[in-house]
Amino acid sequence: MTSPPLPEAWQRAEVPPLPAIGPEVVDEFARTIYGRTPEGGRLTELVLRSRENGVLDGAADRLRHHAVIACPLGDLELDTVTHLPAGASAEHPVPVVVALNFKSDEVPSAKVMKAGYAVLAVDYQQIEPDDPAPPAPGVRALFPTQTTESTETTETSDTTEPWGAVAAWAWGLSRLLDIADGIEGVDPAEPVVLGHSRLGKAALWAGAQDERFAVTVANGSGCCGASLFRHPGGEDIAAITTKFPHWFVPSFSTYAGNESSLPVDQHQLLASIASRRVYVASAEDDAWADPVGEYLAVVAARPAFGPNGIGYHVRPGTHDLLEEDWLHALAFAKR
Ligand code: GCU
Repeated sequence: MTSPPLPEAWQRAEVPPLPAIGPEVVDEFARTIYGRTPEGGRLTELVLRSRENGVLDGAADRLRHHAVIACPLGDLELDTVTHLPAGASAEHPVPVVVALNFKSDEVPSAKVMKAGYAVLAVDYQQIEPDDPAPPAPGVRALFPTQTTESTETTETSDTTEPWGAVAAWAWGLSRLLDIADGIEGVDPAEPVVLGHSRLGKAALWAGAQDERFAVTVANGSGCCGASLFRHPGGEDIAAITTKFPHWFVPSFSTYAGNESSLPVDQHQLLASIASRRVYVASAEDDAWADPVGEYLAVVAARPAFGPNGIGYHVRPGTHDLLEEDWLHALAFAKR
């Protein structure tokens, strides 16, 4: 599948240099932006609640599972939906895409299912409510207050900031992968993690931290996703931390209006995922997500990857995760 051509002006834009990437880069992202996703959370129960065969015009079977994940201070319960492509079985397992949904009833299209991946998803707010003052707490209340770890080379090593909701959703994506391991017909090797918009930010943070993910797909992920802070345009730190303070560590807002003092930029997050693979997708009219900033981050990160290690497309249209975005991303993943 060929991607749409890139606007010519983009190809002349300035690409930032890529500093050396080591594990301390991921620590810097944890310290300054997302907070550290804690280790832990063990899948203790996975029950198949229902199975509908031949949904999506016969392209898939739909399985609903109830999962219990034991966390240090209590259990988190999740109701997941898995679409298995027709013909997938214990004898012929298929690779999996784990994804977070904005709503429980989102389903992949028949054409997406024909790409041959199982799609395992959960409504993201089952993991952590998307609310600065949630009426009921999510998984972050099931872990003791943590210290954001830093490497010895980092000067400010003693922060005690809570992890943000994006990091909580990233934790949830890793748990979906644990669940995938227990589903007949799914081959948990070479998994893909995919998300759109705020959930694209979470997919990137999951991909950076959980090395089991072979391919990370960030669609329309914008500010604090794939787009560069230092590229002007679209949402900035002031806007995102005013409207969504709960997504990040509280001190992230101190960089509002002062993007250039942030010790990292998002091409380094993409590069930190190498040698595993990354795919970024933009939409031309998605100005809020700054598609040019997303594209430049990909170009800047490219030296960290091998051939076919990082892919990108921009399509006409607005902020959305469309069938064509799925198909481009899965064609890349299969390569
Ligand atoms: C808002 C927010 C973005 C986010 C988007 C979404 O527009 O400012 O950062 O990506 O919501 O998740 O749809």
